[in-house]
Amino acid sequence: MTRLRVGVLISGRGSNLQALIEAAADPGYPAEIATVISNRGDALGLARAAAADIPHQTIADPDRTGFAVAADQVLRGARVELVALAGFMRILDTGFVEAWSGRMINIHPSLLPAFPGLHPQRQALAAGVKFSGCTVHFVRVAVDTGPIVAQAVVPVEDSDDEDRLARRILAAEHRLYPLAVRLFAEGRLRIDGNRVAIAGGVAPEIVALNPAEALTEHLASGGG
Ligand code: GRF
Repeated sequence: MTRLRVGVLISGRGSNLQALIEAAADPGYPAEIATVISNRGDALGLARAAAADIPHQTIADPDRTGFAVAADQVLRGARVELVALAGFMRILDTGFVEAWSGRMINIHPSLLPAFPGLHPQRQALAAGVKFSGCTVHFVRVAVDTGPIVAQAVVPVEDSDDEDRLARRILAAEHRLYPLAVRLFAEGRLRIDGNRVAIAGGVAPEIVALNPAEALTEHLASGGG
């Protein structure tokens, strides 16, 4: 099996990167992490890449175009077919976004289009929503927009603060991102305007991450 070559862009902790590394550790998984790029030398995710023997580097160029040119070169050199942003906290150069259009995805910790941008968990609590979650979407120039590939829902509890909600959403992210990458790697995603059609229907694993099941699972585990 030829596995899809994924380049992951990070800025920090890299727990979503870790979820992808762990998924790809299964030889039956249709994607592998070919390279990891961080815009910060102190990103914890770089150590995760190192521990998994994945080529990794820091591109700290403060100039947006300079970063884009260097990142593009690394990604092409690594024969990357899909770019996955995983906690990448810089706005990307327009030309870079356009060059990778349809081949670059992001994960965001809210149910987009609700709560784009910074502190989405804080925004969710302020808005008083009863459910939030995470979204994997194709990247377009405007931040946190783009055709949605998959979402996972988690309940918001009365006692939640930002950290607690963020932790619950993060656990869903770690399940959702590898599933979304799998769908891409299997060639099952077709972008049609703002919508993404999934050949063969929505993966049952993604359905299983969503409202009724998520809530049942959450309650069965005693909440939290
Ligand atoms: C995640 O919540 C992700 O959705 C957001 O930034 C956070 C990154 O966390 N874009 P990590 O670096 O993957 O642990």
